[in-house]
Parts: sequence; structure tokens; C-alpha cells
Amino acid sequence: MLYALARPLLFTLDPETAHNAALRFAGLAGLFTPQPPPCPVHAMGLDFPNPVGLAAGLDKHAEHADALAGLGFGFLELGGVTPRPQPGNPRPRLFRIPDARAIINRYGLNSVGVDAFVVNLLKRKKERKIVVGVNIGKNKDTPNERAADDYEICLEKLYPHVDYVTLNISSPNTAGLRDLQESKLLSELLRKIHAKRERLRDRHGHSVAVALKIAPDLADAEIRDMAAVARRGKIDGIVATNTTVSRAGVESQPEAFQTGGLSGAPLRERSTRVLRILSEELKGEIPLIGVGGILSGADAVEKIDAGATLVQVYTGLIYRGPELISECISACLAKSRTANTASR
Ligand code: FNR
Repeated sequence: MLYALARPLLFTLDPETAHNAALRFAGLAGLFTPQPPPCPVHAMGLDFPNPVGLAAGLDKHAEHADALAGLGFGFLELGGVTPRPQPGNPRPRLFRIPDARAIINRYGLNSVGVDAFVVNLLKRKKERKIVVGVNIGKNKDTPNERAADDYEICLEKLYPHVDYVTLNISSPNTAGLRDLQESKLLSELLRKIHAKRERLRDRHGHSVAVALKIAPDLADAEIRDMAAVARRGKIDGIVATNTTVSRAGVESQPEAFQTGGLSGAPLRERSTRVLRILSEELKGEIPLIGVGGILSGADAVEKIDAGATLVQVYTGLIYRGPELISECISACLAKSRTANTASR
């Protein structure tokens, strides 16, 4: 309701300014948000109060975690963060396509760097008990041969403070990053990350889950390969998917020519297809997090039906506001009640 009033005003501002303003008001919106009904889910060794999470990229620097937790999410994926600070691409780098309920972004992993990120994370008051994950990436000027070092640095610095980390190897806005999805490079990366995790678990006495986030623009065989590599690499969860470089569904829109990753409604089917293939291949062995084009409760249930245990939203929040979160939780709750009744 509050968002329905604010949206026309926000949409008169340039998208990045509107985005920053909306985040500042998230705390206020939380005051008017009733506590969502519990819909507990156990996945990746963690207890989620509900299966609806915030996707990476909205709170890139971990500055708004308490306010976002107040909106009813079951989990937050903060970041993406890189080891060293980097400015990302010059503005403008965020474009709305309202007719298609989509956006294109080419932020290019702008980051305050992991040290400042941890300082922000430690300011959290943690009034609501939710799961907190962080999306980690490599710096733009780190060559792929040394990418593992960047992920290891972020993992080590975040380890005491988070429930899970997601290895972002799928952003289209860092040149060469998606090459890390290739089988051999990925196997090697996951081998190093696994060894690092073992050492960190011994040092800290607890485990932090590691998820992998993949692109929607892969061929079927590449997705199947990736499932096998993730299984061998002892990955705890797969986030499917990141934004797409395709422009299918927005070809005739004025901003469609902008370079960057497309998200929102036109991405929905493309990312659900990836989920389905992963689900066929993994048969529940690795929990899947479905993200891409969720703009309604029915869209969230579609991801669950395709094999997701958890879902995340980003662009839907821009078009629908925080009421999308409770709508998705209610739809997932109704779905799990129907499934329970059917199995009795
Ligand atoms: C993103 N996304 C993203 N993903 C990631 O792994 N690391 C990141 O830093 C970002 N940053 C980012 C910024 C912006 C402006 C957008 C719109 C998206 C991708 C995001 O987490 C999600 O995977 C996609 O946007 C698809 O979901 P939606 O937006 O269709 O719900």
C-alpha cells in the first residue's frame, strides 16, 4: 500500500537514485509490515523461517540488513562483495523497462570491499532471526587464473559472521567471470574452496554453507555438467539464476539495447528451465534456490514446482514493493499444506 503510493514518485527519479531512496525507506516500510506466518524450511544445514529471500545485488554493501529483515524475508543474500573496493561501471548503469516489468543493470560489481562490508555487517542489531548469506565475487582486475584467491579471501573474512556464502561466477558485467562456469576451471575453483572451508571449519568450530550461482544462458549439457561438478565439489546449494544477456521478450523496448544483465518477468521461464534441468540431474541431492522473474506468489510456486527449495526476489520488489514478499510466503505455505494433505 505504502509502496503503491511511493512508486509513481520513485519512477520519476533516475533508477539508481530511486533504488537508493527506496532502500532508505525500507526501515519505515518494515514498521507497517506484519510478521509473516511461519513457513519453516531446513536446507543447506540451516533453518529458514520461510523460503522467500532477498536476491544478491539490492544491498550490495550490507548497509540495510535490519531494515530488509523487517520486511518479512526468510533470508537475505547481501553483496556481491569483492576483496578490494572497486567503483563498478560509470553511471547510468541501471535501466527500467516498465512495460516488460524488467530491468537491465551493468553495475559491474561495485563494492566497498570485504573489510568495509564486514564493518557494516557487524552494525546489525539482529532483532529478527533470519538466515544471512553473502554473495562473493572477484575483483575486475584479478585474472581468472587467480580468481580462487579472491573467493578465498572473501570466504575467510566473512566466515565468522554469516550463515552461507554464494560464489558468483555468473554476473554478465565482469568480463570473463562467466568463463569460470566451464567444467575444468570450476572443478579447480571448487576444489580450492572446499580445502579452504575445511581449514576454516577447524579454526572456527562451525560450518558455513557454500552455494554456487549460475547463469541462465547455458546450454542443457553445460547445466548438466555443472550439476556434476557441483556435486563433486561438495557444494551445499545452487542459486539459479543470475541475470541474462538475452533480450528475448524486450526486443522492441526503448532501453533493450543497453549492455548488461536483464532481470524480471522476461527472465522467468529461462531461469525456471535451468532449475528443471538441475532438479532432474540432482534429484534433491543439492538444494536449489530459484530466482529470476518472480513477480507474484504463483511465480514463486512455479519455482518450487520446478525443484527449488527456496526462492529469491529482486526486480519484483521494484515493480510490486514489499507486499510481494508476504504474497510469496502465503503461496508457498498454501502449496506445502496441499502437498502435506495429498501425502496423508
Ligand atoms: C543483480 N544480481 C546480482 N547477482 C549476483 O550474483 N551478484 C550481484 O552483485 C548482483 N547484483 C545485481 C544488481 C542489480 C541491479 C540486479 C537487478 C541484479 C542478480 C540478482 O541477484 C538476480 O539473480 C536476478 O536479478 C534475477 O532475479 P529477479 O531480479 O528477476 O528477481
